[in-house]
Amino acid sequence: LLALSAVGYAQQPNYDESKVPAYTLPNPLKMENGKAVVTKEEWNERRKEILQLFETQVYGKAPAHPKDLHFKVLKEDRYAINNMATRKEVAVYFSKDEKHYMTILMYVPNKRNGAVPMFFGLNFKGNHTVSDDPNITESITRMKPKEGGKEIQMGTFKRGAEASRWPIEMLIANGYAIATVYRGDIDPDYDDGYQNGVQPLFYQKGQTKPAADEWGTLAAWAWGLSCAMDYFETDEDIDSKKVAVIGHSRHGKTALWTGAIDQRFAMAISNDSGCGGAAISRRKFGETFRKINTLFPHWFCENFKQYNDREEHLAVDQHQLVALMAPRPVYIASAAEDLWADPKGEFLSGVHATPVYEVFGLDGIKGVDAPKVNEPIMNGAIGYHVRSGNHDINLYDWQQFVKFADKHLK
Ligand code: GCU
Repeated sequence: LLALSAVGYAQQPNYDESKVPAYTLPNPLKMENGKAVVTKEEWNERRKEILQLFETQVYGKAPAHPKDLHFKVLKEDRYAINNMATRKEVAVYFSKDEKHYMTILMYVPNKRNGAVPMFFGLNFKGNHTVSDDPNITESITRMKPKEGGKEIQMGTFKRGAEASRWPIEMLIANGYAIATVYRGDIDPDYDDGYQNGVQPLFYQKGQTKPAADEWGTLAAWAWGLSCAMDYFETDEDIDSKKVAVIGHSRHGKTALWTGAIDQRFAMAISNDSGCGGAAISRRKFGETFRKINTLFPHWFCENFKQYNDREEHLAVDQHQLVALMAPRPVYIASAAEDLWADPKGEFLSGVHATPVYEVFGLDGIKGVDAPKVNEPIMNGAIGYHVRSGNHDINLYDWQQFVKFADKHLK
């Protein structure tokens, strides 16, 4: 009994570096048949193997974009933010009957010469929470129902509640557009047996939930962001070849997976993404597979659950997720006090993705330990910082992302 309770969910998270188990990471530059990857062409083959493993064992496979995918600009205001920006709300319909859709909220700088680069990512609490702007249409939030009750929807979160996480004016002043989608428009963030998100639109006859290797909620979110890219390609204000997909925490996991499945995204930014994001799983530091699969049983595909307490048996680790961005620039951000997300493990995934960037003649990041707090490294195609403070995304984080984007997207 003692032995049993020592493992598993009841176990305290490990925050002691000396208790990190010894581990060997899967080599991103070694084909499954044992051949070494040297050239870009060989990497492209290896990339397929790695992508498939993440698809079938971790996030789950998502379907092709619906043939009925279509868009409508619902609202446009050219005098937003003291005339500095144009605000648009664009519906992306997943079905012909327009019952299922997500709303993209976007701000485009008015001072621009042609199409502009853009940051794009999910928000937690509704589009109306990213700014005090009274003209943003309130999202219908979708929160877990109380026992036996209905989903909690309207009026859950105040306008501007998450404004500190979205420095819209700063981005506009720096010449970037910014777009966001409420993740609940794609798939609500609770374990609903995959009944209320986009998954049911694709069930085969008789199917009631995704198969073991099919999309969980993170993959559904990534799929939604990828559908949004179909719209951006039609929007003349946006340089769709210069869109950075960004996310904090669970949305940071999603941002990395989005960049992996859709190479049209020019950059990915992971902020405090932790377990299932940038952190090396085999370190079992902070959040582990068992914890994440217990707290959030809907996030990953069913197959992923077989790796609870067995991180080392998964054929991939998260440095390979970062490597799937290559040769496109990727930025990983941590927060010093956010031990649950394992800052060092997040740094190390950048270090261990670096050999793949070197195949393209690019630099990544090197080292055994993360740099000092508030000392970003961004000379190569992989950027990293550990900010002082806690689990959050704030102005400091964004300022670094803008510096990095200035190097690569301007
Ligand atoms: C929880 C979860 C993390 C996740 C975080 C967030 O802490 O365990 O995996 O990143 O929520 O999304 O804020």
